[in-house]
Amino acid sequence: MFQHRSHLGIENGHLTIGGVDTVALAEKFGTPLYVTDESRIRANYQRFQRAFPNADIYYAAKANYNLSILRILAQEGAGADVFSDGELFCALKAGFSPGKILFNGNSKTDAELNMAVQEGVRLSVDSLDELRTLSKIAEAQGKEAEIAFRVNPDVSPKTHPKIATGLKTSKFGIPHAEVVSAYKEALALKNVKPVGIHCHIGSQILDVAPFADAARRMMELVEQVNKIGVELKFVDLGGGLGIPYKPGEKVPSPSELADAVLPIFEERTKSMGITPKLILEPGRHIVADSTILLTRVNTIKKAHKNFVGVDAGFNLLLRPVMYDAYHEVVVANKADQSPSDTYTVVGPICESGDILASDRNLPKVEKGDLIAILDVGAYGFSMSSQYNGRPRCAEVLVCDRSAEAIRERESYDDLLRCQVIPSRLRI
Ligand code: LLP
Repeated sequence: MFQHRSHLGIENGHLTIGGVDTVALAEKFGTPLYVTDESRIRANYQRFQRAFPNADIYYAAKANYNLSILRILAQEGAGADVFSDGELFCALKAGFSPGKILFNGNSKTDAELNMAVQEGVRLSVDSLDELRTLSKIAEAQGKEAEIAFRVNPDVSPKTHPKIATGLKTSKFGIPHAEVVSAYKEALALKNVKPVGIHCHIGSQILDVAPFADAARRMMELVEQVNKIGVELKFVDLGGGLGIPYKPGEKVPSPSELADAVLPIFEERTKSMGITPKLILEPGRHIVADSTILLTRVNTIKKAHKNFVGVDAGFNLLLRPVMYDAYHEVVVANKADQSPSDTYTVVGPICESGDILASDRNLPKVEKGDLIAILDVGAYGFSMSSQYNGRPRCAEVLVCDRSAEAIRERESYDDLLRCQVIPSRLRI
């Protein structure tokens, strides 16, 4: 179970994270509870940076934009990929330098474009329409916006359809065949300067071949736009490297990704005699396995299956429902016990799809036990909601064998926050 997760262990029969007893954490901070190991994030980031020593790593803030986690990555020297004004706001608060932030998005508001120009961050432009709007906005501010185009390279990443983003049919990017004319228009427009090229083909990709395909297609375009006089400062190949969620799952490492992509990038830039920076935008790989979700068993029911009802549902972890995603489950207070039966772990939400883990072999599960759901650091809390009137849970960061809250548990008042009752409806 813990082969590739050296931050998890077992002491006195209890699951530990970063050397801290999860049973004690649940008692101190309550459940449900997201728990993140800081050193694991730093190690994941450093592994990626070592694999691409000359590249800039722009952490994809969408995976997890808790301020402390952003702060850790800013300290490590990462840049940031942001996908909204809110993510930009958080990245700036966390201390990312505006020069190392790329504002992505396929449907940005004028207010978001204004904010990006104001803050001096680069933008990845998703359409000609957006380009024209941006040019006017930058002109009105008397500024020049540095841009890349998001290219749709038409590459199949062989992942879940909802997270394949570089297919011809996807909503993202400028179609491959129209990219050169988009750069021509950008060169002719005022207050925008094309300095980069960008793609992102999908997420949880388990094979390096699609990355190499995308890199080849991108480098062909680099050659074409270079010929029309665009001086590219960067080539951004996006994120998407998968992680092993299932036991024994084979996943390429960052260095295997580098072996597949760097020769293509280096050979082509060398032959063109240009020196753009390579940028990568990993999210999941940096944070996913750093974090577990602790959830308490409310009730056990033997029906069609052995149902284990816990206090976290798809309000706090949407991935199993949304993508049929697999997350490993451990009975944290019985972590050294052998499986004795098959259980299906379900949340408290009013929908039959609220299943966190199906048909798992676990030690005998009883009311009051503590379940840990593994690898939830990416797209876990960041996709949470208050559905069914459930305040969001707390988050804790473990460092040097001690734990601190990095987000307080929401209260009932937080369910009401921002709501306004017209006076005629007041009690
Ligand atoms: N760059 C761009 C432009 C992106 O849209 C994304 C993810 C990334 C980078 C980071 O990709 P990563 O390295 O994390 O795979 N909620 C889904 C994943 C959605 C990914 C969306 N874009 C999930 O839970 O699997």
